[in-house]
Amino acid sequence: MSNDSVLECRGLSKVYREGPEDVEVIQNVSFTIGRSERIAIVGSSGSGKTTLLNLLAGLDTASGGEVKICGVSINDLNDREKSALRNRHLGFVYQFHHLLPEFTARENVAMPLLLRRDVSVLDAGSQAEHFLTLVGLESRMNHKPSELSGGERQRVAIARALVTEPDLVLLDEPTGNLDQHTAEMVQDLIMDLSQRIQTSFIVVTHDLVLATKMERIWRLQEGCLVEESDDAALER
Ligand SMILES: Nc1ncnc2c1ncn2[C@@H]1O[C@H](COP(=O)(O)OP(=O)(O)O)[C@@H](O)[C@H]1O
Ligand SMILES: [Mg+2]
Repeated sequence: MSNDSVLECRGLSKVYREGPEDVEVIQNVSFTIGRSERIAIVGSSGSGKTTLLNLLAGLDTASGGEVKICGVSINDLNDREKSALRNRHLGFVYQFHHLLPEFTARENVAMPLLLRRDVSVLDAGSQAEHFLTLVGLESRMNHKPSELSGGERQRVAIARALVTEPDLVLLDEPTGNLDQHTAEMVQDLIMDLSQRIQTSFIVVTHDLVLATKMERIWRLQEGCLVEESDDAALER
């Protein structure tokens, strides 16, 4: 594997055996994501996009295949080692912000750093302030999630994903829960940030405007990932 790849998966598959019949949601998927590369994954609802992201992050166990995060195979790691690897290399943004309600924006953003025992509370706070400023929320640092708008909460979630300066950010329908105007603002922010910082992005999105701004678009269809041209994406 080249030193420049942040994520590599080989022969990845996932079969759910809970219903009356087996469902092979992910079938023999292989790809490599390079440093600073930006990829959109599109696909209809239920096509397995969230499952794929969870497999890539080691949040779900694959039925077959291998995932390497920055050169380290997650297959051989226990849960604690996987958490540490995620904390070191990955950032996450979900459709629902998953902020902790009793903490301020600053505290929420500082949290991933505080999980690292080698970062002081003071340093975590100032790094959080830096990233909240980057997403335009310098005047909302002391607000709790309930005191923020939907778009502001999602911007806090983006700051939290970036605060550890991860190698790769995984975004699962980051604008899916926002009205169109707010979604456009968050899209622009994601685009702006992805151009300004040396981080790779995988964005799962229904939003073709956002998808076509990424360097590559992959469609998840019947368990397989196929590369799609911008034109094909927009024609759908
Ligand atoms: N824990 C589970 N057990 C059984 N089936 C599941 C589970 N999670 C997801 N699925 C099924 O896998 C398919 C893909 O789901 P998902 O990854 O959430 O799709 P998407 O994010 O593209 O909407 C769906 O058919 C869903 O019902
Ligand atoms: Mg999903």
